[in-house]
Amino acid sequence: MHSSLRCPTTRRNRSSRKGLPPRVHLRILTSAGAICLALLASCRAHPPPLDILPERETFIALARDFAGFREFGRIDLGERPVQSETHPGGRLVVYVNSVPKPGAKEFPVGTIIVKENLSAKTEPASTKKVFAMVKRGGGFNAEGATGWEWFELEEGDKGVAIRWRGVGAPDGEGYGGDPMGSCNSCHQMAVKNDYVLAAALQLK
Ligand code: HEC
Repeated sequence: MHSSLRCPTTRRNRSSRKGLPPRVHLRILTSAGAICLALLASCRAHPPPLDILPERETFIALARDFAGFREFGRIDLGERPVQSETHPGGRLVVYVNSVPKPGAKEFPVGTIIVKENLSAKTEPASTKKVFAMVKRGGGFNAEGATGWEWFELEEGDKGVAIRWRGVGAPDGEGYGGDPMGSCNSCHQMAVKNDYVLAAALQLK
C-alpha cells in the first residue's frame, strides 16, 4: 500500500535543477530524501509511545478510554495460531497506549492493551472478539493476573462499549464462567512478564 507513495518534493527539485550549483543541488536532494523517509515512516504502523503514563495508584477504565484505541501504538503480531476457544487464530494486532521503559519489571497502572483479530473482521460479529486488559492496580484481581482487569469490547454505532469487565469473563460465555479460569489461567503462563503473553510485548 505504501509502495505507491511518491515523493513530490524530489520531483519538484528535479525540474528546478537547472542553473543551481551542484552543491546546493545535492543539499536539496538530501533534504528531499529525508522528507520522503519521514513521510513513509509516519504512515507505517506507529510504535507505542514509551513510558508516557502519569504515576497513579489505580486506574478504572471507562468506555471512553477505549474510544480511540486504534490510535494507540500498534504492534502487528502476524498470523497467530488459535489459543483455545477464547482467541481464534488469525492476523493479530495489539494496540497499546504506552509501553514501559527498559528495565521496568511490570506494566504501569493505566496501561491499556487491546487485541484485535483482523482475520475475523468479515465474520459475524459474534466471532469477532476484541479483548483488552487494563492495569487497574489497587490490589485488583489479586488471585489472578494481579493488578489487571479483563475486558471484552464491542463496537457499535456509538463507538466502543464495554461488553463485560472484571477478573474474568461472565458466566454464559463459551470461554468463561470460572473466574479463576479463562483469562487468568492462561495469562498466568506469563507471570514473569506481568501476565502479558505476546512476544512483542516482553519487558526488557
Ligand atoms: C488458551 C490460552 C488463553 C486464554 C484462555 C486467554 N488468552 Fe489472552 N492471550 C493468549 C496468548 C497466547 C496471547 C498472545 C497472543 C499471541 O501472540 O498469539 C494472548 C494475548 C492477549 C492479549 C494481548 C496482550 C498479551 O497478553 O499479549 C489480551 C488483551 C488478551 N489476551 C486478553 C484475554 C482475555 C480478556 C481473556 C479471557 C476472556 C484471555 N485473553 C484468555 C492466550 C490466552
